[in-house]
Amino acid sequence: MKKIQIGVIGCGNISDAYFKGAARSQFIQVKACADMRSEAAEQKAALYGFQAMSIDALLADPEISIVVNLTIPMAHAPVSQQILKAGKHVYSEKPLSATFAEAFTTLKMANEKGLRVGCAPDTFLGASHQACRRLIDAGTIGQPVGGAAVIMSHGAESWHPNPEFFYKAGGGPVLDMGPYYITQLVNLLGPVKRLAGLATTGSATRTITSEPLNGSVIQVDVPTTVNGVLAFENGANVTLSASWDVWKHNRTSPIEIYGTEGAMLGVDPNFFGGSPRVCSPNGEWQELDISAHPFGTPNRELRNGSMAADYRIIGLIDMAMAIQNKRPHRASGALALHVLEVLEAFEKSSRTGEFMTLSTSCERPAPVPLGSDEVVFC
Ligand SMILES: NC(=O)c1ccc[n+]([C@@H]2O[C@H](COP(=O)([O-])OP(=O)(O)OC[C@H]3O[C@@H](n4cnc5c(N)ncnc54)[C@H](O)[C@@H]3O)[C@@H](O)[C@H]2O)c1
Repeated sequence: MKKIQIGVIGCGNISDAYFKGAARSQFIQVKACADMRSEAAEQKAALYGFQAMSIDALLADPEISIVVNLTIPMAHAPVSQQILKAGKHVYSEKPLSATFAEAFTTLKMANEKGLRVGCAPDTFLGASHQACRRLIDAGTIGQPVGGAAVIMSHGAESWHPNPEFFYKAGGGPVLDMGPYYITQLVNLLGPVKRLAGLATTGSATRTITSEPLNGSVIQVDVPTTVNGVLAFENGANVTLSASWDVWKHNRTSPIEIYGTEGAMLGVDPNFFGGSPRVCSPNGEWQELDISAHPFGTPNRELRNGSMAADYRIIGLIDMAMAIQNKRPHRASGALALHVLEVLEAFEKSSRTGEFMTLSTSCERPAPVPLGSDEVVFC
């Protein structure tokens, strides 16, 4: 089978994960990359052995059917819409756009043209999150009633080489990290009905301590501490604490779900693996066996030296196979649009003092079949 040819626009920090992931795939292949900084595209092309092109040439290439948008959040909508205008399917990094209104236009355009939109995160397709999904679907913890999600650190200016976008529209802990958590909650519980939030900004500026911009100052345009409560259509309500103003905390469980017959401790939805736990009424925590699920084996060394499972790109591979097999893809535009509406609503609720009722909903993505690799998407 000839591999599906992919183009990539945006050759920054995260692009290596995609280029490495594509190199491991038997179904897709990167044909070319582009960036508004042509030197960035040329550097990645030389490193990974494909072509660097101008954005126009990449979009005009008839062999390329799907274009991956790895630009910064503020550029997601204009670049995705340019890709759709060129008649190609688009798979975007998160969030789908810096604003819900722009993302809505992107999906409308795709629907009119009969093209697909896919969007990160795809971490919820990982072994540990799918094991949690299977557990909830099997009724092991009964009916989910409540839960908690916690995102806490002191931001990205200590490690990202160009961290300004984290503090501009489309950034902040809610829009940057929130997609991982809300997507996994929707995967587990279904869509959100309404929510309320309180938002504040800890510091008006941030000083970069990473290289090469060490000492540069960023003006912060977004809330950096947000607390909220979400009511899901299935009746469960969940709290979200999201902050980049926290030096230290002791809330070690990223996602917890409490049901009528037990409780579940999820794992960091920024990764694909980890050890989720479950308990029955009055029981002890038991580790869930994730070994029958694909995409859970640790394969990447983190900055702290520990190993984690990172299969960023499988959402794109699922979309490529879904187009071929004429079935819905899992990391879909509709899911990402709903998640983006949720994320944006926290700040709106904080401003107005009111609960926000969501205008969008979505289907829960199909569970990933048991198996050992990307063949599960066939
Ligand atoms: N860095 C990470 O660890 C990480 C992890 C997961 C997701 N993401 C997401 O991936 C996206 C990119 O993040 P990054 O860290 O790679 O950012 P980055 O700033 O390192 O890279 C972005 C690249 O896009 C290019 N670009 C920007 N606007 C463009 C435009 N209009 N046309 C063409 N090229 C353009 C820039 O020149 C740059 O090379 C963001 O949405 C981010 O949220 C990043």
